[in-house]
Amino acid sequence: MSDSLAELAQLADTAGVRVVGQTYQRIATPNPATLIGTGKLAEIIALRAELGATVVLLDEELSPRQQREIEKAIDDDNVKVLDRTALILDIFAKHARTREGALQVELAQYEYRLPRLTRAWTHLARQAGGAAGRGGTAGVGLRGPGETQLEVDRREISRRIAHLKREIEEVRKQRQQYRQRRRRAALATVSLVGYTNAGKSTLLNQLTALAGPERGEAGVLTADMLFATLDPTTRRVRLPGGREVLVTDTVGFIQKLPTALVAAFRATLEEIAESDLLLHIVDITHPSALQQAQTVGTVLRDLGAVDKPIITALNKVDLLLDAIEAGLALGQDFPAAVVISAQTGWGMAELLARVETVLNRNLLPAEALIPYSEGDLVNLWHVHGLIEQEQHTEQGVLLRGMLPKQL
Ligand code: GTP
Repeated sequence: MSDSLAELAQLADTAGVRVVGQTYQRIATPNPATLIGTGKLAEIIALRAELGATVVLLDEELSPRQQREIEKAIDDDNVKVLDRTALILDIFAKHARTREGALQVELAQYEYRLPRLTRAWTHLARQAGGAAGRGGTAGVGLRGPGETQLEVDRREISRRIAHLKREIEEVRKQRQQYRQRRRRAALATVSLVGYTNAGKSTLLNQLTALAGPERGEAGVLTADMLFATLDPTTRRVRLPGGREVLVTDTVGFIQKLPTALVAAFRATLEEIAESDLLLHIVDITHPSALQQAQTVGTVLRDLGAVDKPIITALNKVDLLLDAIEAGLALGQDFPAAVVISAQTGWGMAELLARVETVLNRNLLPAEALIPYSEGDLVNLWHVHGLIEQEQHTEQGVLLRGMLPKQL
């Protein structure tokens, strides 16, 4: 409960909103009109006025009606009432880097706004020049016969939603083609999953700097902010045995992930569904590490990614005071995990070895005599498989070892 509020405060901070006060209420039956009770609402209104706050943020999802009623009760055009979903949408809008990510977030924002549209709201949205203003409400002044401004706005937003959906479909087709090419290249893929801020981007940077085919290829955005990563980033990493794999950074998970946002995760979800191994990164120094790990487990289950092999890596051990502390956490809650520090690079060898062991389970024994004129094939074997024996004969190179099934 207080955890969720603390996280909401961190989300607010990431979105550039400073928290000046907070309160909570335990309710058995939420008030259909205002979610919270009337007494609590009066208390919040008084507190807001006293602190001069311009945003009232609720940790639970508000229905359009509840949002309107609370706005009405506050009765101040300069005050915005937001819920967790709206805040996450805002953060997503700032962090989407690929075209598809940006389109998905814009779509989610419109879908969230459509039922919440009130005159005051559209007015504010246009004034603020938020994402709703990004070309979306252009042409709003053209009122049809007998239409109110609100109806015009609704029509315009519905039109924009349909347009975004078509565009997203286009981009998705292109991405599928790209992925098919990648699949033909037959490199195994590993997806980094984890709660937001667990250290996935830091780990990807570390692995690339350490074991990238071309060192120093790093440069994934890492930041002590929630959701610094929205779109998947993929890098090549070489395993100790010489085999190369693709490692993909994915969006961080979070509690109470709004359902409207699941589509915005599609690029990430497709990556997860297609990968051969999941690397679950847990920030072991976080007071609710176990709960966060469980949330990630739940989201993965919801995505249908239960059959994937998973390696759990407990990250940020450099921050733990001593090995005993680390050992305690490890033994109790995550018995099979690898302990790492993505920042210092501690534990990388062990981690890569574990990844290799799991991925090599998918290899099949193979043997081939490759003519010297087909040197590319020898190279291919080195990159994708394992070589146990390499013998130079008169007819060519005789290779014995393991290869992925596709090859
Ligand atoms: P999202 O993009 O929100 O999903 O986050 P992420 O999981 O990609 O986390 P990121 O790599 O951005 O790291 C979050 C913060 O934790 C950054 O400030 C990192 O510098 C810090 N961090 C990551 N790994 C370590 C570590 O091993 N030790 C320490 N001390 N800090 C770390």
